[in-house]
Amino acid sequence: MVRLVIKNRSGQLLEHDGQSGISLMENIRELDDSVDAICGGLCACATCHVIVDHNWTDQLAQRQEEETQLLSDSACYVEKQSRLSCQILLTEDLDGLTFTIAPEEF
Ligand code: FES
Repeated sequence: MVRLVIKNRSGQLLEHDGQSGISLMENIRELDDSVDAICGGLCACATCHVIVDHNWTDQLAQRQEEETQLLSDSACYVEKQSRLSCQILLTEDLDGLTFTIAPEEF
């Protein structure tokens, strides 16, 4: 299990035991007030936007250009901290990963 610390869209702080080997989005989409992920992880919608705690940004694999392009169109884009949760593979070394679900934009 990979412990996730999440601030959801209602401002609640949640702890969730995530499963490694699948994306962060797949781990969190069923939680209350979480990501919508309407494209299902195809890097095409940006509704799985999360803002990663600054202590964790360097521990994630770098963004691909496609991900950066989608995120930079968002009104709540935070240059170093914004990520598409569907593009993050959850691994055991991310135990304790802390992030905020970005506000809904549509
Ligand atoms: S689920 Fe659509 S971009 Fe991540």
